[in-house]
Amino acid sequence: MKVLENKVCIITGAASGIGWVTAQKFANEGATIVIWDVQKEKGESAVAELMASGAKASFQLVNTASFEATEQAAKEVFDTYGKIDVIINNAGITRDATLAKMSIDDWQKVIDVNLTGVFNCTKSVSPYMVNAGCGRIINTSSVVALYGNFGQSNYVAAKSALIGLTKVWSRELGRKGITVNAVAPGFIATDMIKTVPEKVINALLEKTPLQRLGQPEDIANAYVFLASDAASFITGQCLSVDGGITL
Ligand SMILES: NC(=O)c1ccc[n+]([C@@H]2O[C@H](COP(=O)([O-])OP(=O)(O)OC[C@H]3O[C@@H](n4cnc5c(N)ncnc54)[C@H](O)[C@@H]3O)[C@@H](O)[C@H]2O)c1
Repeated sequence: MKVLENKVCIITGAASGIGWVTAQKFANEGATIVIWDVQKEKGESAVAELMASGAKASFQLVNTASFEATEQAAKEVFDTYGKIDVIINNAGITRDATLAKMSIDDWQKVIDVNLTGVFNCTKSVSPYMVNAGCGRIINTSSVVALYGNFGQSNYVAAKSALIGLTKVWSRELGRKGITVNAVAPGFIATDMIKTVPEKVINALLEKTPLQRLGQPEDIANAYVFLASDAASFITGQCLSVDGGITL
């Protein structure tokens, strides 16, 4: 039996990057995939690809920054599949600038998606898990939540807050059979880091014991583990998957 056989898994931001690779890996492990993303075309073609490979999958155009949208989408998932087993709160954006140059709008946009979006998704989905007496909530934090980063006040504020929320929700929801964990990816080769100058990437690699950027698969593997029965006694944790850069 595959490790996620028949699990209904919502993956936010799975139209591209780490989320998309996670969707493929979860589908290979037998999961039913629900993609929530703001990119309609990419999301729909991702689902078509998953279905062509024999997986059960659907796409919903959801801006996770809107509670109305996440609440409605969660209801639709439950009405369609009868349960929600796992949510990976993976959707995220960056709008980098130093404190002096960061606009209020860029501060707010990143907080809305990377922090409020995770609150919205978890608040919308968790009642179904509570009623079922089981569930897995996995939050995507970041290596920069653990040691800060130049030019990322908004992003680091949100990603650090997710580690705190992971602990709060694991305390609140543990008695209901739900585990809540976070993954803190290091620097992963996706579109998100295309704007990082080569010089900066090289400096990061020098500090990384494993001497490479992470691949989306590295993060997807951690999500599979945390969503699987093998992780049933793990909650409130933040797992670094970063090649050792935080050592
Ligand atoms: N790439 C890295 O080095 C790295 C490192 C640490 C953490 N992360 C985190 O991993 C997650 C995935 O990052 P990625 O590198 O795959 O990025 P990506 O930009 O490739 O993918 C992000 C996805 O989120 C979607 N999205 C953005 N705003 C949304 C919204 N409001 N509602 C729904 N979907 C939305 C995008 O459309 C996109 O499909 C993010 O939370 C990111 O912060 C990435």
